[in-house]
Amino acid sequence: MTLLRIDASIQGPRSASSALADLVVDEFTAHRSGEQIRTRHLGVDPLPSELWATAVGAGFTPEADRTPEQADAVARVRELADELASADAVVLALPLYNWGVSQHVKTWIDLVIAGAPQGAQLLDGTPTVLIVTRGGAYGPGTPKEGWDHSIDYLRRIVGEVWGADLTVIERELTLARVNPAMAGLVELADTMKESAEQAAREAGRTLADRVQREADAA
Ligand SMILES: Cc1cc2nc3c(=O)[nH]c(=O)nc-3n(C[C@H](O)[C@H](O)[C@H](O)COP(=O)(O)O)c2cc1C
Repeated sequence: MTLLRIDASIQGPRSASSALADLVVDEFTAHRSGEQIRTRHLGVDPLPSELWATAVGAGFTPEADRTPEQADAVARVRELADELASADAVVLALPLYNWGVSQHVKTWIDLVIAGAPQGAQLLDGTPTVLIVTRGGAYGPGTPKEGWDHSIDYLRRIVGEVWGADLTVIERELTLARVNPAMAGLVELADTMKESAEQAAREAGRTLADRVQREADAA
C-alpha cells in the first residue's frame, strides 16, 4: 500500500503542520513498517501555476490538434490526479496563510481537478488526514471568527469533491510563543498544541489499524 503525504508550509523546519504530519506518519510507520510513503512538498517544490491554463485549454482542443505544450500539460496534470487516486491513505498538511489556502495548495488542487475525469471521486473512501494550522484563532466569539477561508473550502474539495474519508486535525494559536502581543494566550496555545499532537498520533494509529484490517481481509 502507499501512503501519500503532502506538505505545503513555506516555513521550513519551523513548520507546525509538518511537525503534526511527522507525528501521523511516524505513528503509522511504527505499526506498519515497510509500507511505501510517497511525499510531495508544495511549499518547497511548487507546481507551476501556468500549467493550469494550458491543461484546461487542452481539454477544449481535440487530442489530434493539441500542441506539444498542451499534450505535456495534460500528461502532467493526469500524473497528479493519478498520484492522488492511487494512494491508499493520504496525509495533507495545509496551513492557513493570508486567511486562505496558499497559492501552492490552490494550484495543486486546480491541477489535480484538471487532470481527473469530470466528477471523479479521486479519494472515494480513502482514509485521509487533513492537518490545518493557524497562527491565530477563529472559533466562535473570537475577533476573527469567519476569517478562516481555508477550512470549509478544503473540507468541500477533499471530503466532498474527492470523496475522502476525512479526519481533520486543527491547531490554532501557533504564533502565541513568537508574537509578544499574544503572550496572554500561551497557555491556551500549549493546550491546543498538545491536543493536536495527541490527535495526530491517534490518526496515525487509526490509519495503521485500517491498513491492517484491509490486509487481513484480503
Ligand atoms: C505569509 C504568512 C501568512 C500568514 N497568514 C495567516 C493568517 O491569515 N491567519 C493566521 O491565523 N495565521 C497566519 N499565518 C501564521 C500561520 O498560519 C502559522 O505560522 C501556521 O503555523 C502555519 O503553518 P506552518 O507552521 O506549517 O507553516 C501566516 C504565516 C505566514 C508565514
